[in-house]
Amino acid sequence: MADITLISGSTLGSAEYVAEHLAEKLEDAGFSSEMLHGPMIDEVPTEGIWLVISSTHGAGDIPDNLLPLYEALLEQKPDLSKVHFGAIGIGSREYDTFCGAIDKLEAALKACGAKQVGETLRINVLEHEIPEDPAEIWLGSWHLLLRDL
Ligand SMILES: Cc1cc2nc3c(=O)[nH]c(=O)nc-3n(C[C@H](O)[C@H](O)[C@H](O)COP(=O)(O)O)c2cc1C
Repeated sequence: MADITLISGSTLGSAEYVAEHLAEKLEDAGFSSEMLHGPMIDEVPTEGIWLVISSTHGAGDIPDNLLPLYEALLEQKPDLSKVHFGAIGIGSREYDTFCGAIDKLEAALKACGAKQVGETLRINVLEHEIPEDPAEIWLGSWHLLLRDL
């Protein structure tokens, strides 16, 4: 099993690019990683460290490719008590439901017993034309927290 499983939810690709960029940075820092773009519930490990990166669409909605996983978390309530996760949302402040998807995902993961590491990063694309930049800064402190697990 990889040290860190990156799980992305994206409609237009930005969140996927951020996930791929962070995977490279994690590898540089000595972690092995696995990338899952919009995985199904049976594709995700039920222990270890997840890094969930999701944009928001509709009105605070989960991207289509991550909806099956989200719904499975709500309906099947898998035991994720051996999972630690970090969370990054990408959205636009022009919506009232700014980064609504990552908030929903965070709540669903916690309801399954997963424990969050660090604070959720919410990237406003109006402010950050290149979302990889704030994500990389956040990752620098996040991966240090993993040492204490
Ligand atoms: C139709 C549409 C609806 C959106 N709704 C939201 C929203 O409710 N909340 C939010 O924070 N951002 C919203 N956004 C902004 C996207 O999350 C943002 O453009 C993001 O960079 C898209 O990432 P992606 O390329 O990974 O899909 C919306 C964008 C579009 C095009």
